[in-house]
This record gives sequence, C-alpha cells and structure tokens, in this order.
Amino acid sequence: MSEKKINGAGLRGQSAGETSLCTVGKSGSGLTYCGYDVSDLADNASFEEVAYLLFNGELPNVAELAEYKAELFAMRDIPQALKEVLKLIPKDTHPMDVMRTGCSFLGNVEPEVDFSEQRKAANRLLSAFPAIMCYWYRFSHEGVEIDCTSDESSLGGHFLRLLKGESPSAQHERVMDVSLILYAEHEFNASTFTARVCASTLSDMFSCVTGAIGTLRGPLHGGANEAAMDMIQKFTSPADAKEQMAGMLERKEKIMGFGHAIYRTSDPRNDIIKAWSEKLAKENGDTSLYDISVACEEFMWDTKKLFCNADFFHASTYNYMGIPTKLFTPIFVCSRLTGWAAHVMEQRSNNRIIRPSADYIGSDPRKVTPIAQR
Ligand SMILES: CC(C)(COP(=O)(O)OP(=O)(O)OC[C@H]1O[C@@H](n2cnc3c(N)ncnc32)[C@H](O)[C@@H]1OP(=O)(O)O)[C@@H](O)C(=O)NCCC(=O)NCCS
Repeated sequence: MSEKKINGAGLRGQSAGETSLCTVGKSGSGLTYCGYDVSDLADNASFEEVAYLLFNGELPNVAELAEYKAELFAMRDIPQALKEVLKLIPKDTHPMDVMRTGCSFLGNVEPEVDFSEQRKAANRLLSAFPAIMCYWYRFSHEGVEIDCTSDESSLGGHFLRLLKGESPSAQHERVMDVSLILYAEHEFNASTFTARVCASTLSDMFSCVTGAIGTLRGPLHGGANEAAMDMIQKFTSPADAKEQMAGMLERKEKIMGFGHAIYRTSDPRNDIIKAWSEKLAKENGDTSLYDISVACEEFMWDTKKLFCNADFFHASTYNYMGIPTKLFTPIFVCSRLTGWAAHVMEQRSNNRIIRPSADYIGSDPRKVTPIAQR
C-alpha cells in the first residue's frame, strides 16, 4: 500500500455528510448534542431528557418529560418468546452477541412496519435493552428468571435494579444516568456510521441497530472499557502499572482507553467520569483502582502525549458500582442506541444511499485460465 493510501486510511478527517445532532471538538465547540455542551447536560439533565432531545431536537418541558417517561416505563418488559431465546444463549457468550441477537429477535416479533413507527421502535429498544441484558445475564449466571419490570423511575436505575435485584442508591442511579448521557451520541463514529449506511438503504430500525451493535463490539470502539478494566485489574500498584505499561508500549501494544480518532489533547467526557470514579473510590474506602488509573493516565501523557478517552475511567467507575466487567460494553449499547436511532431518523429525512468508491490497487486486467490448466 502506498504512503498516500496509508495516510488516507480510516477516512480520517473526511466529511461523510451533514448532521444537526452533534459536534465533536470541531471549531472549538467541544462535544455538543443539538447545541448543548455534554457537561452542561451531564450536570443539568437526565438521560431520558437527552434521549428526548436527540429524537426531537429540543429538550422536553416537565409535562413532555413525564409523558415520555411514562411511555418508556410501559415498554420495559420483553415478550416471552424473546425470554425463551435468551435462555438458549450460553453463559460464556459475549454479552454484545446477546444484545445483537436480542435486538434482532425483537425486530422479528415487533417489526417496524413502516417509517411512521421509527420513534416507537427506537423507544421500544431503549426500554427493552436493560431487560434483554439482565434477563440473559441473571438466567445464565445465576439460574434466575427475573421480573423484567421495576418501579424505578429512571432507565439507569431500572438497569441496576434488574442486575442486582434491589433498588440502587440514589448516588449509583445518578452515576449511571451521567454515564448514559456521556455515551449517548458522538457524531459519525464507526457504529453510528454503520447505522446510517444501513438506514440509507431504507432498511428497518432493528437492522440498523443490530449492525451498529456488531460494530460497537470491537475493542477499538466500545469494547475498550472492558479491555481497560482487564488491564488495570492486573496492575498491583501505581508503580507496577507504570512499569508494565512501559513494557506494553515497547512491544507496540495498544493501551485500551487511551487516544482518540478525533480529539487530539483530551476527551471532554473524561473529566466528568473521572470525578465520579474518584468520589466512588473514596466512599468505597479502597482507592487502589482509582490510584492505579491515575498513574496510567500520567504515564501515558508523559511518555506518549496520549490521554484517557471516555472509556478509561468508566472502567473503575463501573467496577466501584459492582457491575460485572462483561456488561460494560452492553451498557454503552443502552446509551448509544439514542444516537444511533437519531442518526437513522436524520438519514431517512434526507436520504441518498451511501455508496462511496474505492481506489483500485489490484492486479492489471487479466484473462481467466480454465481451472484444469491452473
Ligand atoms: C481510538 C483509536 C482507535 C484511534 O486510532 P487512530 O486515529 O489511528 O490514532 P492516532 O492516529 O491518533 O494514533 C497516533 C499514534 O498513536 C498510537 N496510539 C494511538 N492510540 C494508542 C493507544 N491507545 N495505545 C498505544 N498507542 C496508541 C498509534 O498507534 C499511532 O502510532 P504510530 O504513529 O506509531 O502508528 C486508537 O487511539 C486506539 O486504538 N485506542 C485504544 C482503543 C480505545 O480506547 N478505543 C476507544 C475509542 S473512544
């Protein structure tokens, strides 16, 4: 591959379309959803308000939010047929594969008949994802068939309740809410772009989201929070972290949870989730995981000028909340669904099939040699 091709790899820096949903660090605007800074939303809004914003372009007022939350609340349970499918999925399956299957199967039994149902389909997935994840997890790991409904008012609280079987503390519910806000939307990232490509063929919402889940699954994208957790758990102290990371860099290994395709010096989501990680660590009484994470952050900046992305401090934050590592990326799905669905709706509103071309670098034209002579 030529130098020029390597530089052009990954479509980096090329605009692939327009969006009114999000800016990612362009022209000093930082990370914004529909014009609102993500830190402003994390401080002053709930995840449901953000979902409403992404689907409707405006934040809801009190009455609109109450109506929206009631709609989501009523759709939390999942059909028995889906529960039966989830029961068949083995315990050692990657939970992202469970989410992919759950999403796809829901599209079988409750299809989006036409685009007038797009909001209903998006809201249905938003309400049902915590149940899909937790029903499978608790059945396969604990042999329990959980009740998929709860009286928790927020989706974040509902997820924690289904996962643990008890009401979360107000603080854990709030941290989950903030985390869902931070992960909700991020312009033309790989999984969202997948959803838009699928939408551009006029496919259905469930197919767009299923494809996006498969894309988010990879460790270079959503899987980084789990990989970061696996890494920091192996370090015994801040000094050990620095020593082991030096070896990883020497071996040219990627350090998960660091770097970004667009941000160059920092990820605006990091400070927010890092502050929660520190708070939870102090309350937990054992700050070692947080201290190790800070050592990793310092080491990567000092040696490579690489900074933590949103995933890195999510690892310790979720761990302090007692969330199993294998569920980290599925939580990302529960959140990013809002961005995916909003992009699907935006793509449909002004659609032309997405079909780029490629620079051909293969062999010169040639004739087929009959198989017997090859
Ligand atoms: C996010 C990511 C895929 C972006 O890739 P990218 O756009 O190709 O990255 P950059 O162009 O900024 O990379 C510049 C250099 O830093 C290196 N680098 C980037 N991230 C790195 C990391 N996490 N660990 C080690 N080196 C890294 C690259 O290998 C590259 O080195 P090179 O010039 O010697 O090849 C990449 O940073 C990565 O793999 N990070 C780890 C996975 C992760 O956390 N993903 C979640 C993203 S939100």
